Amino acid sequence: MATFSFIGTGNMGGALARAAVRRLPPAEVLLSNRTQSKAEALARELGCAAGSVAQAAAEGRFIFLGVKPQVMPGLLAELAPMLAARQDRFVLVTMAAGLTMARISGMAGVDCPVIRIMPNTPCAVGEGVILYDANPLVTREELDRFTAGMAGAGVLDRLEERLIDAGSAVAGCGPAFVCQFLEALADGGVACGLPRAKAMLYAAQMVKGTAALQQATGQHPGVLKDAVCSPGGSTIAGVRTLEERGFRGGVMDAVLAAEKRNRELGK
Ligand SMILES: NC(=O)c1ccc[n+]([C@@H]2O[C@H](COP(=O)([O-])OP(=O)(O)OC[C@H]3O[C@@H](n4cnc5c(N)ncnc54)[C@H](OP(=O)(O)O)[C@@H]3O)[C@@H](O)[C@H]2O)c1
Repeated sequence: MATFSFIGTGNMGGALARAAVRRLPPAEVLLSNRTQSKAEALARELGCAAGSVAQAAAEGRFIFLGVKPQVMPGLLAELAPMLAARQDRFVLVTMAAGLTMARISGMAGVDCPVIRIMPNTPCAVGEGVILYDANPLVTREELDRFTAGMAGAGVLDRLEERLIDAGSAVAGCGPAFVCQFLEALADGGVACGLPRAKAMLYAAQMVKGTAALQQATGQHPGVLKDAVCSPGGSTIAGVRTLEERGFRGGVMDAVLAAEKRNRELGK
């Protein structure tokens, strides 16, 4: 029997399946997807099994729902009879932006254990963040099995559900914001005459290293920024340009807009 089954192996479901096989024997992971060839291709790559959506719903101890929020009502209406027929325990794991655990169990038509997660795409390479919360029906043992199975994704952090939309705006949407920054850094480098591949390498390694430095030292980012800015130097000239263009306010507004949209999606 599959310990973790996945319904939907797109960007996020696929990233989490990759994380799952880092900790679980591949025999305990089952993949399914609307376009089945997609689940089959990933299963071949990961050495785990692919099956039908019905099989994933009937066999998973933890059933990961990896579909878009707007697809969820239709999917769960389809799964409801299969879930109701199950005699054994199972946990629904939802990653859908904006949808509460109460709405998920309401759509599934069963009062069942639900874990809500907010993962991000770096989970695919073990450097992600998974924010999670669980409804009261999830046991301590189930939560431990879930976190152990997902540990290969990166950092797992429990966050009460009322804050998940906010956490998601930073950790879930953030990779897109960082990629915009990376692209812009590399474009700037190319504009200065660097070959594209070198500009991209320098930008990506610099972002990764700066985040690692902040985490290793625990220092405030402002202190780390000050350490790079020599008086009258080149870095402070760039910092001033970013300030003039409203860089930090723009980033804060992006997080607020994403959080607002998360809440709208949940209505
Ligand atoms: N992307 C992110 O960074 C991110 C971050 C946090 C949370 N999330 C959440 O993760 C979920 C998935 O997002 P995504 O970005 O991974 O989307 P995606 O790449 O479009 O993947 C969705 C997958 O669901 C499959 N699917 C659709 N309807 C289905 C059905 N009825 N039965 C089985 N599979 C079905 C699709 O199959 P086809 O191949 O047939 O299209 C597709 O592979 C969303 O709820 C989103 O809110 C995403």
